[in-house]
Amino acid sequence: MTTPFAFLTLEIADQLAVVTVNRPDKLNALNGTVIQELDRAFTEIAGRDQIRAVILTGAGRAFVAGADIAEIAEAADGPAGLESLSAAGSRVFTKIERLNKPVIAAVNGFALGGGLELAMACHVRLASEGAKFGLPEAKLGLIPGYGGTHRLPRLVGQGRALQMILTGAMIDANTAAAFGLVNAVYPTEVLMDVTRSMAKEMIANGPLALAHAIEVVTQGVGMSTDDALALESRHFGELGRSADMREGTTAFLEKRPPSFHGA
Ligand code: COA
Repeated sequence: MTTPFAFLTLEIADQLAVVTVNRPDKLNALNGTVIQELDRAFTEIAGRDQIRAVILTGAGRAFVAGADIAEIAEAADGPAGLESLSAAGSRVFTKIERLNKPVIAAVNGFALGGGLELAMACHVRLASEGAKFGLPEAKLGLIPGYGGTHRLPRLVGQGRALQMILTGAMIDANTAAAFGLVNAVYPTEVLMDVTRSMAKEMIANGPLALAHAIEVVTQGVGMSTDDALALESRHFGELGRSADMREGTTAFLEKRPPSFHGA
């Protein structure tokens, strides 16, 4: 990495980037610097073809316990107000959601407010048994501001989303899994190993296919069925002209593992 981060670590090995939010004394709360550093880290990851998948996690006992409440209180009185703070965070989270490679959240502890919104911007969420999830903004006199009002109902349905937003209460990992908010729950000590294995499984697939799949799924979810199916066919057709598709099908027929190059 060129410039070190104040509140993130970024490790790259075996085509996998592991981004860890590293502000454990504040339970990894997202201040402006953390948001900017996430922006920088994901811009760098997007530009490096040798990285094929990303894991996002938190240092210590939290994934991320939300936006930094001290900073929110200060920004509310500032000239730009909270609308620009919300828009800036949302822009970075959307960049993560639209990354051209898979991002798996390894939710190792509290995922609250902006922390849950960050996890929801990832493509897959795996949780430790002790993880806790919630959107407690209403307890602060606010609503979720980094995409929570939009992404949560899509993941869990409007009724459950409104329950979480209106009560501000935390749910445990098993309830989050039952809601469909996380894909699976694991003992804390195996969470990272399981997440790495899932990333490895993704890395073995055609990188171009993964990029197209992410684009089609994330865009298609907001479209009419006709538009989403047309989008899918267009991308299917585009992949049909790729070297990766030739390689994948040829390798299958030749009974050997494929060697993809992302083209
Ligand atoms: N913003 C700023 N600081 C935060 C924070 C946040 N979202 N979440 C935790 N912290 C800080 C605490 O102020 C404390 O700092 P201090 O040691 O300097 O006093 C430190 O992190 C540890 O948190 P603490 O509250 O002492 O831990 P706990 O185990 O008693 O409680 C939580 C854990 C997550 C229940 C509690 O920290 C909490 O409710 N955090 C806020 C969650 C929230 O509302 N997020 C949405 C924000 S929009």
